[in-house]
Amino acid sequence: MIAEPILCVENARMLYPAPGSGSLLRPRSRRYVHALDGVDLDLGKGEILGLVGESGSGKTTLAMTVMGLNEPTSGRILFNGRDLYEMARGRDRLLLRRQVQMIFQDPYESLNPRQTIFDILAEPLQIHKLAANRDELRAKVATALSEAGLKPPEEFFNRYPEALSGGQRQRVVIASALILNPSLLVADEPVSMLDVSMRAEILTLLRDLRDRRGLSILYITHDLATAGFFADRIAVMYLGRIVEIGPTERILRNPQHPYTRALLSVIPVPNPRRRRKREVLQGEIPNAADLPRGCRFHPRCPDAIPRCREIDPQLLPVGDHQRAACILVGDEQHAPER
Ligand SMILES: Nc1ncnc2c1ncn2[C@@H]1O[C@H](COP(=O)(O)OP(=O)(O)OP(=O)(O)O)[C@@H](O)[C@H]1O
Ligand code: SF4
Ligand SMILES: [Mg+2]
Repeated sequence: MIAEPILCVENARMLYPAPGSGSLLRPRSRRYVHALDGVDLDLGKGEILGLVGESGSGKTTLAMTVMGLNEPTSGRILFNGRDLYEMARGRDRLLLRRQVQMIFQDPYESLNPRQTIFDILAEPLQIHKLAANRDELRAKVATALSEAGLKPPEEFFNRYPEALSGGQRQRVVIASALILNPSLLVADEPVSMLDVSMRAEILTLLRDLRDRRGLSILYITHDLATAGFFADRIAVMYLGRIVEIGPTERILRNPQHPYTRALLSVIPVPNPRRRRKREVLQGEIPNAADLPRGCRFHPRCPDAIPRCREIDPQLLPVGDHQRAACILVGDEQHAPER
């Protein structure tokens, strides 16, 4: 489906002991939070994939997992066809740390307030021994700042993060993530703490960088609207599983899963004649330590039928390049599972 994957997530599961469950005397009463519950996902070279879902759906857990920071309980992560956790444990761990970079939500917490902007950007180059001398270091830092839209770069060298606006800080964060020339960028809610006016600017900057460098980006957000603006494909996550994935255009125009439709129905559209029927989601996302039987979405699904309590739908094709996990849609039949 995608030309050449840089990242493949294969049936990844991540179980955490549920707080307050189990004890030394009663270990069998231990319950587990299913933060990832069989995630399959791939990301193409040079592609921007939006990963969208409500709070608690497992987005950050997946981000940490593909960063090599949180080994899944089971399943495999492949980076350029190689087992990512074998790389993370072996001789290639420095290469992996260079190749995969992450941007976090909070530009205020991501930067060390006691370092100048120059030192923040120079540090990774020094750790990875990527500058032969001071002149090369200055040149590389200047290029990274310019590419991130902070010009003239020298004016930022001796400033501290507190002297910058939120948008400028996030540009510094982007510059420091890209200074090692990674091939994969994981961006976890990179614009959600910025002013609305700044969001499109930062996402446009990231897209330009992708276009220029062929970077692959996993863009994590709870906001389907920004993913629709920014991503080439969108994956919708619910309670530790991908429930729908497809090209952005198709997800926005022809969503198949009732959860995607509900997320989409609350996005404002400029043309009132194209306004979608609002589908209010009932209740809260259930506790990931106590997954609903059958389809995990059934307690909140407006389309649920009795069979939805019995069948755990798999992610199956719906037309070209789109897949959804719902027994009411799809080109193949869902077999009863549990
Ligand atoms: N270290 C941990 N120990 C126990 N449970 C955890 C841990 N980390 C995450 N969880 C649980 O795993 C589930 C997924 O959490 P995660 O942070 O990945 O969700 P998220 O989609 O990133 O949410 P948000 O949008 O709020 O950032 C949640 O139920 C969360 O409480
Ligand atoms: S399988 Fe049933 S409950 Fe699940 S999304 Fe489809 S209709 Fe809704
Ligand atoms: Mg998160």
